[in-house]
Amino acid sequence: MNQASPAPSGVAPAEVDSVVQPDPLRPFAPVVAPAANTLTASNPLGHTPSTLSARVAGPAGALPGHRPQATAPVVDALGGLKQRAAAALFDRMGSRFSDASVSEEELRKTAKEELSAVIDEEQVPLSPEERRRLIREIADEVMGYGPLQRLLEDPSITEIMVNSSEQIYVERKGRLTLTDLHFTSDDHLRQVIERIVSKVGRRIDESSPLVDARLEDGSRVNAIIPPLAVNGPSLTIRKFAQVPITVNDLLGWGSLTPEMAELLDACVKARLNIIVSGGTGTGKTTMLNVVSGFIPEDDRIVTIEDAVELQLQQAHVVRLESRPANIEGKGAIGIRELLKNSLRMRPDRIIVGECRGGEALDMLQAMNTGHDGSLSTVHANSPRDAIARLETLVLMAGMDLPLRAIREQIASAVDLIIQLTRMRDGSRRVTHVTEVQGMEGEIITLQDAFLFDYSAGMDAQGRFLGRPVATGIRPRFLDRFEELGIQVSPGVFATAHHGGARR
Ligand SMILES: Nc1ncnc2c1ncn2[C@@H]1O[C@H](COP(=O)(O)OP(=O)(O)O)[C@@H](O)[C@H]1O
Ligand SMILES: [Mg+2]
Repeated sequence: MNQASPAPSGVAPAEVDSVVQPDPLRPFAPVVAPAANTLTASNPLGHTPSTLSARVAGPAGALPGHRPQATAPVVDALGGLKQRAAAALFDRMGSRFSDASVSEEELRKTAKEELSAVIDEEQVPLSPEERRRLIREIADEVMGYGPLQRLLEDPSITEIMVNSSEQIYVERKGRLTLTDLHFTSDDHLRQVIERIVSKVGRRIDESSPLVDARLEDGSRVNAIIPPLAVNGPSLTIRKFAQVPITVNDLLGWGSLTPEMAELLDACVKARLNIIVSGGTGTGKTTMLNVVSGFIPEDDRIVTIEDAVELQLQQAHVVRLESRPANIEGKGAIGIRELLKNSLRMRPDRIIVGECRGGEALDMLQAMNTGHDGSLSTVHANSPRDAIARLETLVLMAGMDLPLRAIREQIASAVDLIIQLTRMRDGSRRVTHVTEVQGMEGEIITLQDAFLFDYSAGMDAQGRFLGRPVATGIRPRFLDRFEELGIQVSPGVFATAHHGGARR
């Protein structure tokens, strides 16, 4: 099956893409419209309105930039009215929007009354039907996610980036575009942010101006406000793909080859410990999810994540999620504690969504003590770098272990590294499948089984034509396959005529 691919003679260094680029291979992550995004402004945790939102309650129009342009073209009379009415409603309602003692129903009722008054003041002739529709639309806009609502409901959008109340970008099929939507004001944006974060028991204000949260549909939200965000509140939403990306998707996009998929399947069945390595947004979590799909149904799986993203299809899964500190700064439960706890839950496999701290040590120890077949990801740009990263993370555990001992832990725990790279053409590919073989002196020995072949060059659109190809070197773990009676077809390691360099 490999005959078409030339030898990766010119294996170039990883083509890391640090700039945001259009990504033609990026899927339309299918997102089902959040059925009931009825985020209420009520607040179960007694969150108090911050100083800024309280200011909204001040005299109408006291805030600079709070007034929308009153010069809407005639054709857009309704649109203009909608804008003005939304802004006026905002002024009149002020902090009542985030008053915990007011129920959603009451709030809607008050909002509608206020809105009616605003529309009367405008003296624009409206049919009863137009009036009803207007009130409903404005109420939805102000009470729900505002302009984000329709972006959240649009399944073709994978990411929403609010740079300021006036500037909202979206990503579709890997391409960033500026929308013509905006929030009524910075305060409106602030309200939406507060509504989102208070829902998950967090708070955002001048003393804690950055927050991660999650919408009910699983979408991940990061919010950051002044003084840290210089141009006003800023919000980034990575929408949750309701239908998870499958191994077939990865094959279709050329991120993975059928040979690699077959090998990875066998590696998971053979209980190798696997680390997925890559930079931000290279597809680590997606790959982890896909690779986890190869775990047999009857294994008991415990997943540990900072924000649940994995969507395992097996039935026997326990999902754990870390908890940030509460409003008083107490009660945080980190990955490390969850990992320690998971060992008492009789797991067959432990999946740590991402290793980015001292939990790396606990994970390596778990891998070395019978919980083999475990999986995780690290943030690194090459397999060698992933090893270095693990060393650093283990040091963060603060156990004062000698470097050699750390390396021995890593070498004996980790069996395989899958390296992902976001290419210059925006595509996300596996660039290395690398076996961790052991130690030679002080050095951990790595051996590539697959490498991305850059020698095929690019097409007219600047897209890489190459693919990951087998180096032809037989991984040592094949012996383990034999013992376990796990077969891989001979074609998996078939290659033209070269050997991958031992590194
Ligand atoms: N192989 C791939 N090809 C194209 N898009 C991908 C691929 N893998 C993941 N994606 C998309 O890229 C984005 C980031 O993926 P994710 O797995 O969360 O990355 P990471 O965990 O490395 O930050 C998601 O929107 C995901 O749908
Ligand atoms: Mg991730």
